[in-house]
Amino acid sequence: MRDPEFWHGKWAANQIGFHLEDVNPLLIEYWQHTKPTHEDKVLVPLCGKSEDLVWLATKHADVQGAELSNIAVRAFFAEHFYTPMVMPINGQHELFQFDELSIYSGDFFTAPLKPVDIVYDRASLVALPEEMRAEYVAKIKSLLNPGARILLVSLDYDQSEMAGPPFSVAEAEIRSLFAEYKVTRLYRDEADQDHPKIAKKGLSRFAEEVYLIESE
Ligand SMILES: C[S@@+](CC[C@H](N)C(=O)[O-])C[C@H]1O[C@@H](n2cnc3c(N)ncnc32)[C@H](O)[C@@H]1O
Repeated sequence: MRDPEFWHGKWAANQIGFHLEDVNPLLIEYWQHTKPTHEDKVLVPLCGKSEDLVWLATKHADVQGAELSNIAVRAFFAEHFYTPMVMPINGQHELFQFDELSIYSGDFFTAPLKPVDIVYDRASLVALPEEMRAEYVAKIKSLLNPGARILLVSLDYDQSEMAGPPFSVAEAEIRSLFAEYKVTRLYRDEADQDHPKIAKKGLSRFAEEVYLIESE
């Protein structure tokens, strides 16, 4: 794993600007495009302490998450007053289990995750530098059941204007990473001049995008 200290440091210092207080409205609006059923198993890679886990657990019987930071995982359960069962696994991970939720604390790339039907990726692929993305996508693909779907929230801006994370992962790269899949762009929100990334960071453009990725 490259640079785990970067993320451990962010969580230790509570520098978690990516964390949303509420469920991501894009998840609520676009999840239906994955044609979800209650039985579909769901994976949230690099899940942080996202509220999206709670929303997904109201819709699905089996939701797995993977998160490097033990601080994040413990905060997630504490902030919801959930008391999980905690099991050490293979010396490198801990599994936190509570009702529909199974969260692996430790490195996603080596976590003993089970195959799933739907993946929800928000701020995960875009959290990784370019040289790690192929390995990340290979691990995701290795976990997909036949007929699986992915809902991906990505970002598109000029990478030369800002250092990530979050990185820009634009449509061409997504189509190349998932070349053997059907990729549909469901949404693109082009930021206007008042958006902080343009008004404060001085970017010339910044867009949030949602993709549906389906095995053909
Ligand atoms: C930008 S945050 C997004 C978190 C979450 N998806 C959300 O929407 O709030 C990226 C997260 O990935 C985690 N992370 C980074 N590398 C990881 C790895 N190799 N395995 C598991 N988690 C990792 C970080 O600790 C961080 O919480």
